[in-house]
Amino acid sequence: TAAIDSALESLRAGEPILVHDAADREGETDLIYHADSVTPDAVARLRNDAGGLVCVALGHEVAEAFELPFYGEAVDHPATGDHELGYDERSSFSLTVNHRDTYTGITDVDRSTTIQALGEAAANPSATDFAAAFRVPGHVHLLRAAPELLAQREGHTELGVALANAAGLSSAVVVCEMLDDETGEALTPVDARAYADRYDFPYLEGRDVLERLG
Ligand code: 5RP
Ligand code: CA
Ligand code: ZN
Repeated sequence: TAAIDSALESLRAGEPILVHDAADREGETDLIYHADSVTPDAVARLRNDAGGLVCVALGHEVAEAFELPFYGEAVDHPATGDHELGYDERSSFSLTVNHRDTYTGITDVDRSTTIQALGEAAANPSATDFAAAFRVPGHVHLLRAAPELLAQREGHTELGVALANAAGLSSAVVVCEMLDDETGEALTPVDARAYADRYDFPYLEGRDVLERLG
């Protein structure tokens, strides 16, 4: 569709897009940028306008090259029980990281440093010494996409990485849920679309992305 073409163009141009997964899944709309394009102003938009958790989704090959585990598999601690979720078979969470050139890691400048460095590293994963470049734990949550992307999982992790790849970009996108300050719930698709229209950002439904790239 035209909306997908304009979303690919926006990702290439460093602009954000909005992607709603599905009413019968999370029912959330994430604000998404390619990691390479994330400036301090973009981090400010993610935390002020989206308001959810700022995460970087990495493709499977990238995560393998960086030797990143799934968080749920890495923690073996009495405080963790069963990892069940209401909306999917498993979470895509991996570790949290900060680039080693950051100070606390949380400022807009620090998070954009970490996110841009993840984008650069994802463009050439085998040339990256992950542990030398990033410290764990940090203030940017990493997500690992399923190996076969949308054929295996239909989360924002896979939707975002599949869109980046279709745009000809490396497998690293930043995603953050749009939340509603009035209700304390996820922003509804109607309101997320209104936000997208206000700024002229593309808004996509997960099913349309699946139809084209799944
Ligand atoms: C991290 C999340 C988000 O929902 C994010 O979109 C990644 O998860 P998923 O791939 O399951 O949609 O929980 O903030
Ligand atoms: Ca979520
Ligand atoms: Zn999600």
